Amino acid sequence: MQGKMWGGRFAKKINPDFEQFSKSIDYDYILARYDVFNSLIHVSALKNNAVLTAQEEKRITQALWRLFITIEKGRWKYNGSSEDIHTNIQNQIEEKIGKLGLKLHSLRSRNDQIAFDQQCYCCVQAEKIINSLNKIKKRLLALGKKYKNSSLIGYTHTRRAQVVAASDYFACFASMFDRDCQRIKGYRRRLSIEIGAGALAGNTISRISYRRAIDKWFIQVKQYIPELKKPTVSKNYLIQVSERDFVIEFLQNLALVQMHISRLAEDLIMHSTKEFNYFDLPEDFCTGSSLRPHKKNPDFLELLRGCTGEVYGSSFSLLTLLKSLPLTYNRDMQLDKKSLFPVVNTVYQELKMLEVFLPELRLNSAGIESELKDESIYATEIAEFLVNKGVPFKQAHQVVGKLIRYSEERKQKIIDLSQETLSEFHKDLKKQQIKKIVNHKKAVKAKQK
Ligand code: ARG
Repeated sequence: MQGKMWGGRFAKKINPDFEQFSKSIDYDYILARYDVFNSLIHVSALKNNAVLTAQEEKRITQALWRLFITIEKGRWKYNGSSEDIHTNIQNQIEEKIGKLGLKLHSLRSRNDQIAFDQQCYCCVQAEKIINSLNKIKKRLLALGKKYKNSSLIGYTHTRRAQVVAASDYFACFASMFDRDCQRIKGYRRRLSIEIGAGALAGNTISRISYRRAIDKWFIQVKQYIPELKKPTVSKNYLIQVSERDFVIEFLQNLALVQMHISRLAEDLIMHSTKEFNYFDLPEDFCTGSSLRPHKKNPDFLELLRGCTGEVYGSSFSLLTLLKSLPLTYNRDMQLDKKSLFPVVNTVYQELKMLEVFLPELRLNSAGIESELKDESIYATEIAEFLVNKGVPFKQAHQVVGKLIRYSEERKQKIIDLSQETLSEFHKDLKKQQIKKIVNHKKAVKAKQK
């Protein structure tokens, strides 16, 4: 393993299997850009506090900045033999500038660094997810606009209920994603990126030294990572190295996003079957069957729905991980990244694909139009017609219930029943008026006044 950041008090070498087991570089390498940002602030704070000379600060920050640019250009590769990202970067700076590099790790701890790095990560990823959710919302509203003259059958208990406007159907999903978006915005607003907690008890670098260093480097780094928020100096050191609420909260917000993705997926899977035939799914998001040539399977939507287990599981896994940890930092916490990173990637990937999928989704208007002739979905409207004639709703409900049953048993449409028969159910049931009621556009319009 590459040079460790500890070991002076040990006589025996670390067990090689345990050493391998303890490494996090294979997943925390993605924090490199934030770790270097942290180091830039730290080195300038050391200089402001007279721990480093101006010359020393210049040399170390030059090497760090070069490394930062390499990372941003996508040209940096992590060293798989390092224990973690902090060790990797520390060693790389030592390789570049020699002994002076040793001073980089003065008065600091990885416990503080890792919290800072992860806070940066969550802040940046939250912003990306917010942007993507906004796009999804727009795509859904655009579908609503495209199908502004179409109606759909609305369901409760997976049973036909009433006619609804197609635009309202899409707007419903749009508001689910909009609420998710607002929640994540609120989360991101409250999230603070902190530095200066040391291992747990802070350090002797003054707040003003840190603040000036933050002012200096935030402007530079933000040009490359615009989604970042300005870091602050840690107020309570203990909590900065102890808590991962911000990770859990992010995952729980993502669980809600995932739940909405899954509901949308399920609705589209079901309503694009031959049995429903309301939607045509974009072919480039479907797959065929190796055995049955006619199949067009909704695999994309099924996989979206299938991601739910992974996403929900992650926040439960982390709640359990943290449940009985004594204050403050414990190594268990290293494993939080194994829940966080893949889930953020999964949800982000799902949203990115949905951005492309949604504009390609088609409503099968001909299929829907013929289903909208089903009179039972206008039962509530017929009852309401009677209510407007002064009939108490409870009685109207009974009348229409009996009428529907009668027409179903005889396999005769209500609009085809004679006026005489209709009058037997209620004197106010007028054939001509019922004909007008059994109309999806009217049914929808009546509720949009
Ligand atoms: N790899 C560690 C993590 O992800 C970094 C902090 C390690 N601190 C320590 N004292 N061993 O949490």
